[in-house]
Amino acid sequence: MVAGSRDGRMAGAVALVTGGASGIGRATVRRLCEDGAAVVAGDINAAAGAVLLEELTDAGFGQQVAVTGLDVAAEGSVAAAVAATVERFGRLDCLVNNAGIGGAFGPLTEIEVEDWDHTLGVLLRGPFLGLKHAVRVMRAQGTGGSVVNVASVAGWSGGDGPQAYSAAKAGVINLTRSAAVELAPHRIRVNAVCPGPILTPLVHRGREDAMRDRLARLQPWPEHGRPEHVADAIAFLASGEAAFVTGQALAVDGGLSAAGPNTAAAIETNAGGIGLVGVNHGTTGRASLVRRRVEEDRP
Ligand SMILES: NC(=O)c1ccc[n+]([C@@H]2O[C@H](COP(=O)([O-])OP(=O)(O)OC[C@H]3O[C@@H](n4cnc5c(N)ncnc54)[C@H](O)[C@@H]3O)[C@@H](O)[C@H]2O)c1
Repeated sequence: MVAGSRDGRMAGAVALVTGGASGIGRATVRRLCEDGAAVVAGDINAAAGAVLLEELTDAGFGQQVAVTGLDVAAEGSVAAAVAATVERFGRLDCLVNNAGIGGAFGPLTEIEVEDWDHTLGVLLRGPFLGLKHAVRVMRAQGTGGSVVNVASVAGWSGGDGPQAYSAAKAGVINLTRSAAVELAPHRIRVNAVCPGPILTPLVHRGREDAMRDRLARLQPWPEHGRPEHVADAIAFLASGEAAFVTGQALAVDGGLSAAGPNTAAAIETNAGGIGLVGVNHGTTGRASLVRRRVEEDRP
């Protein structure tokens, strides 16, 4: 177990986290360090990478962490980051495909092709390239491995992000399943996390306080989502505790996707929501039974 580790469940493992310098990636790098892994954070933002390195060195993880420049959309850059990880820490057991941007937005009729392609380049080609190069190393090592792709609830519906972003994240969810099937014989697990809105720089864009309450109201869970919530789920999927879990997309969204669009409230068919309790027999001809909820029942 490495000094400062939480429980050592990733002791001896080496991980590469793309987009590791901010938000969910940054929390994941720290969490994997706490779990005992050696971690390389790859990021296109060199200044943020330098800050992360200083922060984790101050926290006592200097021997376990490294930062490398990386553009996940460029194959040569991804291959170089994987090689740098192996050179620095001797192996690669875990890849977290996390790097992301908001990407192209606006009406479909006005989006520029190059903005669309760039968005998919980062969000979908990126995870493919990560898989391609990391899996080559994992297969050669012959000891299995794990990949966690950071998708989004936006990959499941049409209302959670711009079109290119949602299309890319839907692609990541299915890439996760396809890769899991292909790589299972090599004992390489591939899973995804699908965060709901999380308070990171990508979302608050410098207005952290203003966004905090708005985010908290979005899902059934009373508090807003934090990068650490997602990092905890990634750390679980990356670890041996998820040894028989592969090809899954795990929502980390405070119940947002479970709640759905709340149509019952919109068309007022949920009498329970307006202080009543009983049973609705529909159009069977049987009378419905209704009574007022007692005060103690109310939330
Ligand atoms: N924040 C949310 O609400 C939310 C919700 C669902 C999914 N996600 C996903 O989580 C992931 C992380 O997002 P975040 O909210 O932490 O954002 P963030 O902006 O805080 O961090 C993203 C990091 O990725 C890096 N990056 C961007 N493009 C890159 C590239 N081409 N190559 C390498 N690094 C690159 C950035 O420099 C940054 O450090 C993204 O894939 C995002 O789509 C976020």
